[in-house]
Amino acid sequence: MSGTDSLPIRQFSKDILAAVESNDVIVVIGETGSGKTTQLSQILLEAGYASQGVIAVTQPRRVGAVTVAKRVAEERGVQLGREVGYAVRFEDCTSVATRIKYLTDGTLLRECLEDPQLQRYSVIVLDEAHERSLNTDILFGLIKRLVRTRNAQAAAAEKAKAKAGEAAAGSGSGPDSGGRSAPKPPTRLRLVITSATLDGEKFSAYFGNCPVFNVPGRCFPVDIIHTREDHLSDYSAAAIDTVMQIHTSQPEGDILVFLTGQAEIDKALVRIHQEVAALPAGSAGPLVALPLYASLPPEMQVRVFRPAPEGVRRCIVATNVAETSITVEGVVYVVDSGVVKQRSYQPSTGMDSLEVVAISRVQATQRAGRAGRTRPGKCFRLYTRNHYDHKMPNVTAPEIQRTSLVGAVLYLKSLQLGIDVLSFDFLDPPAVAALEDALRQLLVLDAIDADGNVTALGLRMAGLPLEPALARALMAARELGCVREMVSVAAMLSSEHLFLAGQGPGDAANPGGPDSRRSSSSDAAPAIRAARERLRSLMAEGLGDHVLLLRLWEGWEAAGCGRDYAREHGLDLRGLNFARDIRRQLEAVAGPDGSGLDKLGGGGGGGGGGVRGEEGGGEGRKRGREEEGGEAGAGLKGARAAPPGAGADSGGASSAPGGRASAAQVDALRHALTVGFANKLARRLPRHNGYKTLHAVTGQLAQLHPSCAPLREDGDGLLPEFVVYHELVATSRPFLRQVCATRAEWVADVLPKIMSADVRRLSKGTARGPDGAGAGDGGGEGGEGQAQSPRGAKAAAA
Ligand code: CDP
Ligand code: MG
Repeated sequence: MSGTDSLPIRQFSKDILAAVESNDVIVVIGETGSGKTTQLSQILLEAGYASQGVIAVTQPRRVGAVTVAKRVAEERGVQLGREVGYAVRFEDCTSVATRIKYLTDGTLLRECLEDPQLQRYSVIVLDEAHERSLNTDILFGLIKRLVRTRNAQAAAAEKAKAKAGEAAAGSGSGPDSGGRSAPKPPTRLRLVITSATLDGEKFSAYFGNCPVFNVPGRCFPVDIIHTREDHLSDYSAAAIDTVMQIHTSQPEGDILVFLTGQAEIDKALVRIHQEVAALPAGSAGPLVALPLYASLPPEMQVRVFRPAPEGVRRCIVATNVAETSITVEGVVYVVDSGVVKQRSYQPSTGMDSLEVVAISRVQATQRAGRAGRTRPGKCFRLYTRNHYDHKMPNVTAPEIQRTSLVGAVLYLKSLQLGIDVLSFDFLDPPAVAALEDALRQLLVLDAIDADGNVTALGLRMAGLPLEPALARALMAARELGCVREMVSVAAMLSSEHLFLAGQGPGDAANPGGPDSRRSSSSDAAPAIRAARERLRSLMAEGLGDHVLLLRLWEGWEAAGCGRDYAREHGLDLRGLNFARDIRRQLEAVAGPDGSGLDKLGGGGGGGGGGVRGEEGGGEGRKRGREEEGGEAGAGLKGARAAPPGAGADSGGASSAPGGRASAAQVDALRHALTVGFANKLARRLPRHNGYKTLHAVTGQLAQLHPSCAPLREDGDGLLPEFVVYHELVATSRPFLRQVCATRAEWVADVLPKIMSADVRRLSKGTARGPDGAGAGDGGGEGGEGQAQSPRGAKAAAA
């Protein structure tokens, strides 16, 4: 372990521990690679902080949680899942022995619903705070309250215990220790916020001016070279040229190139290898180029942690994951394109866009810093000094300000703390329009009522590890008798890498394709691809993508979940296996007949097979999103709900395992999707194959995305009048992606709900009744002598 002893953070462990000991909240700032993620938890463990509870470390990304837990288990020489474990959506690798638990921020949110006091944790490290993921931002607000209330209660409990101790000593009999076990009094909770960028003051101010601890970096000077012209429009070509110049003229040292997405990176790798091969013999040494992006399979990711053989230069072509989350050793040269792929959401239309935009100055600095980790380095910026000085934004807007908040708001509502979401204590508040959009959508989905309170249905939806629209569709499927089918479709929609390179809906050539999951080395000849396309277009039955996904699932399952079927249909076995895992989990929640859905979110106390430790559904994952990871979560236990709703017990109508859904079941599926995606309906324009969305605020004209499975046209060559879509994306122009044909009569049922409502009223909601004692319920300041927090208090903490 001598390797880790030399990490900067280890040298300051005494000071950090002293700060943790005397403060509820501290902020630790240290440059990427200083050991925050891997060492802090171990430092706390070694100092005994895990004796009272588990040490939790959150990560914004799933891969982050998994790889770091592996690494730390390795460093400690323990088996993963024992002393060191991880929990992410759809996967829990922890045990009673676990003392250090890495988990996604979405998973921690979900746990809050089951255990609002997060009793099992003694320390929570909100790691990678600089990334400002939506979930981390929500956790800031919730844990800020929780620290205050739990610690007040812990202090009060201590006091009471001391008193009782005196009394017991006097009378010779303890307080009712036998019989029913009294609820354990809360223990003290400590919060550590870590960041790789210098935003400590901001965090500190938010957390009541808590101390900020700076771990001095070990950074060597980095020479920054700007280009004379901006290359923001041809950055990819410019980056490749720069790599070749470095390789042929600069001394040894690895190169790190920042590009924006997988397809682009894969293409660049091919080009770089070609150009290196074309160099005159002896003009430069060997070079190996490697990709690095968040959705890269783990076994590929570890390659960048392995040093190159002697004399071989490595060139790592990465997305912004290499900016702060993953440290690549040996980098001496950085090539900064100056751009990043960034998602943004427009609440007025519900449109998502994933655009290549200029990075911020903070990001530029961070990228340059990657060159000076082992020795003095150089950073080649593909933009001018003028661009840096005058055109770049100072900082990047946090995710909470550029994403749909439906999942996050449902989550806050599900806590039933009477939180007025429009005045929640956000570190950086989202736009009012975005919050109102979320409230309106939740009303349409029947997840909240006209008073802004979560409904029994909303609680059940929150209990599912699915985005609200899919959760609502699943609840509708329960009534319509197609749970099995919906579970299959939801699982398929939730799986990444479902289609082989360049083979799937939403794939490469795709204009809207965020991080299109394709490699340029597509695995199939055009003829094979065309055959697969014909096959799939048959399977979609003219009804669209959801039916195609259902049929593909059924086909694969019937074929014994084998490789051959996958290949034949252009599917990625890894993605299918992942879908099967998700499907299993969803089925465990729903029960084979769907009756499990009735029990979600309802009383029953710590009952049954839930989705413990899973990352919340929230906005659900966006297919192939570059910044992957959890979304706002929601959970099921501890929530108080009205009695289970009256879902028709129609489980029998679902097809048998391994069977094929009947036409009636496929209809039911489409009907249920229409209910769930009531906020995502579109109507065809008269005598035209364009669509306009049925949106409460602004209908948007959009075309079917070219990747959509074909829809049946009528005699006039016109598409179905109404469709449900999964995503409205803007690139060159607006497109609907993942589309399913629906019927006018189903649309008519939900249409009246899509109207304006008194949004201000929706914002508030009331706190839940007795023993709901939520996460830091209400202010709770003082909380003297009260183990239970005051009820009905409004959230908006000072
Ligand atoms: O969180 P922070 O960026 O401060 O550092 P870290 O992730 O704890 O990484 C500390 C050191 O461990 C770095 O030198 C990493 O390269 C190394 N590391 C590794 O080799 N393999 C991992 N899976 C994670 C970290
Ligand atoms: Mg880290």
